[in-house]
Amino acid sequence: MADRYLNFTGTAPGRFLTRRLGLPQPSALRRWTPEKPSLEGELLHLTAGDSLHGSSSVRQLLTRTNLTLATDASTSRPVAVVLDATGISDTPGLAQVHAALHPVVRSVAENGRVVVLGAPVSPSDHHQAAAQQALEGFVRSLGKELGRGRTATLVRVRSAGAAESTLRFLLSPRSAYVSGQVIEVGEASEPEQPPVDWDRPLAGRTALVTGAARGIGEAVASVLARDGARVVVLDVPSAQGDLVRVADRIGGTALPLDITADDAGERIASALAPGGLDILVHNAGITRDRKLANMAADRWDPVLDVNLTSVLRTTDALLKSGTLNRGGRVVATASIAGIAGNVGQTNYAASKAGIIGLVRSLAPGALAEYGVTVNAVAPGFIETKMTAAVPLFIREAGRRMNSLAQGGLPVDVAETTAWLAAGASGGVNGQVIRVCGQSLLGS
Ligand SMILES: NC(=O)c1ccc[n+]([C@@H]2O[C@H](COP(=O)([O-])OP(=O)(O)OC[C@H]3O[C@@H](n4cnc5c(N)ncnc54)[C@H](O)[C@@H]3O)[C@@H](O)[C@H]2O)c1
Repeated sequence: MADRYLNFTGTAPGRFLTRRLGLPQPSALRRWTPEKPSLEGELLHLTAGDSLHGSSSVRQLLTRTNLTLATDASTSRPVAVVLDATGISDTPGLAQVHAALHPVVRSVAENGRVVVLGAPVSPSDHHQAAAQQALEGFVRSLGKELGRGRTATLVRVRSAGAAESTLRFLLSPRSAYVSGQVIEVGEASEPEQPPVDWDRPLAGRTALVTGAARGIGEAVASVLARDGARVVVLDVPSAQGDLVRVADRIGGTALPLDITADDAGERIASALAPGGLDILVHNAGITRDRKLANMAADRWDPVLDVNLTSVLRTTDALLKSGTLNRGGRVVATASIAGIAGNVGQTNYAASKAGIIGLVRSLAPGALAEYGVTVNAVAPGFIETKMTAAVPLFIREAGRRMNSLAQGGLPVDVAETTAWLAAGASGGVNGQVIRVCGQSLLGS
């Protein structure tokens, strides 16, 4: 469903009128296209205090993005600002964060990025913990202030070398609908060779995407294929026609299968033998909304089964059978409803909150035992058939109640999934990444 308000505010009279009326001012987001795969412009690299990783190594890392490093802060109009605040270890140091960003924030270009690099919050040094946690409130507020399609993100970096794929993602049009997030990057899980071709970072990898006959799952399958993966798309047998169409379009393979089947794990394993699986995307999901008082078990059980129990069952089966190769990636789909709750969605929100519990608990062990990372994407309001069915006023509220004042597109969730799925993202584990334009819900 087209966002007519966004189209209207993109015209001169629309902009004039909505400004005068004090209405939201969404900017058309700049997303990845084959013609324009990168943000164009200069990147301003600033440091508050002493960098924990050494300014020159962070600078080197930034030169590997597709942006040109600005040489003079006072004259440039950067498309991205990266502030290295990893060395801020007490609250007086926070003044340097203000001093660095205050003069330049106004000049950040439309659809630009502000990325603050922080350090892991110390469990034993409460002064460092206070200062580093302060960055979270700072970045989340900045995300709400920036406007004009600009985003702000905090990346807590343990090892600068492991942060390259994350910085490349954040400093590109692929992260258009990700703002106000805090992302932790640990040590790389395995000595990864950087992919030869960053335009096809999934080359040579095999992916399975559930619920891929339409909507977000279809977009995920397309983006993973674009990035070089061989993709197997799975959906219920009744959606086989659409599924085959998706598979044909992306040069993949269709696997019609109900993911709640007891033997789904085994059937996936045999479909993927002998090479196994590198990327498992749990995207299939359903809603059966009613207030709890009106919700019979026939609305509760299938939602929990599709959205959560089958995810647990198939993940366990594919890990234990060795179908998920070392260096593998599991990306599950949560929702901001699982963080904030929602009227009429006790079943759905329970299932999506359960995904967050699963991801946080399984991630360290799966990495240690199987060399597999486990993360989640938590979409906000995404323009799909699911949200097109929402009544008009609730839909309008859902679209506007975020810092970017618009709904996301399935491709936004897909781009985030592709970043988490990359071999080079081994340092990102146990994270729940909201793709919600910094929704006010659950923030
Ligand atoms: N659209 C949004 O705004 C939004 C927001 C938050 C989270 N999500 C989540 O994102 C995911 C995709 O959402 P969407 O909007 O694309 O939904 P959608 O309804 O358009 O697509 C879901 C797909 O999952 C498939 N599916 C359902 N049950 C299945 C089963 N038992 N086995 C195999 N496949 C099954 C469906 O056939 C369908 O093709 C879901 O997990 C959803 O909960 C969506």
